[in-house]
Amino acid sequence: MKKLFSLLFPYFLFLYATGQVPMGPPPGTPQMQQNQDLIIPLGTKNISLIYKVSGRDGRLYQLYFGPKLENPDDIKLVRDQDHLAYATFGTDNLFEPAIRATHNDGNPSLELKFVTQSSETRIGGRDGVTLNKIFLKDPQYPFEATLNIKTYEYEDVIEQWVEIKHSEKKPVTIFNYASSMLHFDAEKYWLTQFHGDWAEEMKMKESELTAGIKILDSKLGTRAHMYQTPVFMLSLNEKAEENTGQVLAGTLGWSGNFRFLFEVDEKGSLRVISGINPFASEYSLDPEKVFKTPSMIFTFSATGKGQASRNLHRWATRYGILDGTGSRMTILNNWEATGFNFDEKKLSAILDNTKKLGLDVFLLDDGWFANKYPRNNDRAGLGDWQENKAKLPDGLGYLVKEADARGVKFGFWIEPEMVNPKSELYETHPDWILRLPNRPENYYRNQLVLDLTNPSVQEFVFNTVDGILTSNPGIAFIKWDCNRMMTNAYSVNLKDKQSHLYVDYVNSLYSVLERLRKKYPHLPVMLCSGGGGRVDYGALRYFTEFWASDNTDALERIYIQWGYSHFFPAISVCNHVTSWGKQSLKFRTDVAMMGKLGFDIEADKMTENELKFSQNAVITYNRIKEVIYKGDLYRLISPYDENRAVLMYVNGTKSRAVLFGYILNARYGETFDRVKLQGLDPAKTYKVQEINVPNEGRRGFGQGMSESGRTFTGDYLMKIGLNIGSNTPLTSVVYEISE
Ligand code: DGJ
Repeated sequence: MKKLFSLLFPYFLFLYATGQVPMGPPPGTPQMQQNQDLIIPLGTKNISLIYKVSGRDGRLYQLYFGPKLENPDDIKLVRDQDHLAYATFGTDNLFEPAIRATHNDGNPSLELKFVTQSSETRIGGRDGVTLNKIFLKDPQYPFEATLNIKTYEYEDVIEQWVEIKHSEKKPVTIFNYASSMLHFDAEKYWLTQFHGDWAEEMKMKESELTAGIKILDSKLGTRAHMYQTPVFMLSLNEKAEENTGQVLAGTLGWSGNFRFLFEVDEKGSLRVISGINPFASEYSLDPEKVFKTPSMIFTFSATGKGQASRNLHRWATRYGILDGTGSRMTILNNWEATGFNFDEKKLSAILDNTKKLGLDVFLLDDGWFANKYPRNNDRAGLGDWQENKAKLPDGLGYLVKEADARGVKFGFWIEPEMVNPKSELYETHPDWILRLPNRPENYYRNQLVLDLTNPSVQEFVFNTVDGILTSNPGIAFIKWDCNRMMTNAYSVNLKDKQSHLYVDYVNSLYSVLERLRKKYPHLPVMLCSGGGGRVDYGALRYFTEFWASDNTDALERIYIQWGYSHFFPAISVCNHVTSWGKQSLKFRTDVAMMGKLGFDIEADKMTENELKFSQNAVITYNRIKEVIYKGDLYRLISPYDENRAVLMYVNGTKSRAVLFGYILNARYGETFDRVKLQGLDPAKTYKVQEINVPNEGRRGFGQGMSESGRTFTGDYLMKIGLNIGSNTPLTSVVYEISE
């Protein structure tokens, strides 16, 4: 039998590699023979991720990760690098581990060996989605880790998470518990990070990784980021380009502390360990309880960053974002226009404007609630979710009816995880609040974080949102905010398990969201966190869109939205036309249109021309939004490279496209090269039509070189290109390109 298996092994290997048999060993054969390697080839249409169980030591190694290997036999030629697929700590690993645990008897070492594997196709009834599980176990202790590797064949995306479990006699402490570990062997490694702060999210910076460790992480507790976003791009050998080069794009689906660790060892190999930040988070795991890590979501492109983004966008609309393949509503928001200062009369006028502008929904922002400590500024009222009687004597229900009478919809803002010390909630439930014993309270935006690990608080948050929705039927939209990170990190509820707080907070938030989603599966909800402080695919399973930044200056927004576009599809990025920037209304509108369009502007103060322009822009947007929401994005000219930014979206059949061009600055005598378009069909003929033209006519942009009204072949547009330039800074053009 043993001999027969070894004779047949190359054949099995071939079948595995070509995907002709389901994963797992052929029926009736042992999982692996002693001294015989077992190859586990996984992957998608264009990516191979190949593991090997070593016959020598029974451990699981990553043999290969990169562009699809077309010839299965080539796997045998890969030089053995001994890259542990999920490295442990305490035996012989001298580098950063993916997992570290101390057993119930105090033994601080962990060993994981391959036990078995399984594979299930058509997960969730979806073609091309396969869940592969690789079971690993400590040979000396009843401690196991299951690697879950979900492959999305058509999107070229892989999702990895790990389930950790044991049946030791007492709890086991896990210190590190990564979601994924990947290895690379290249000449050089270039890392692009996306960092920032409030109002300056997603700034891109690329640097070379050198020997040692580089960490991108956050320790903000309630939100994944603010300073550092849970996303990165890693380019092998050369710096990342849009259309060339090998690029890994990764993001962690987790709304709390995350860590990406990049370690280049003495041989020049790189290991990338991604997951929850182990910082101050050792977890005491009870016997038989499963610790499930969040998902690391990644793609690999052999043709640059552009393809990597398109892969993630396709994955996100189909699997990552709630109702990602549906449509979205255009919004009129009142935050920048009124702040906390409004009443029913003012809001009725805003509802009129929602209608007048042709928008779908009026979103009432912060300031509508609390009575004992009215929410007239950010110093009071958070937590007291009853309508403020002075501002809204007739309640939210009145606004829903008023909206309905105008044929628009109504939505409201809420920040249910927080409390102001000046609130009734603070007075009645001091034990529901995260606060350190023997220390003064530490405020950020004058508020504190509720202890969501406490089931009573979860109940409160659920009931608050559910209560507003059930007592005001017809509410069609919510903006869920989270305006501070976690300090005062101490939970009365967690007792002696304080180091569970960062993990349990996020899981508790997800369980509340899960419950709400069961009851309201499709209600559109915007994810917001003091701007873009909580943008990640862990949360986006429950949200239809996110607020990218409080900075709505259109010039700044080009950079911010450019950054997000690397990981998040346009349908999810809320952009509002506001008065923050001093650019023309056209420029501000064109910038907001490159994602999910909304307004936050005093429409009453608009001139007739401005109003007409905006009304037309909304009509135009409704016509083209399908291409923006579902099309493929091509970033043509980066604002980081030139004084302009150009990008386009192309629909699936390549019959429609929309191009956005922005001139950020124009130095004296500066000229701009033609821009070669991408993603079109060379054989098709396209009409290029400028849209969003101001009523008073074109000023500034592209004088004498407008391409509008002309017809070109796709071949011409992609090889010769269009003139997209102007001598006037802060001007823009939008072209609709139709077959
Ligand atoms: C922060 C958000 O980013 C803003 O859009 C606004 O909703 C305020 N919070 C309200 O307090």
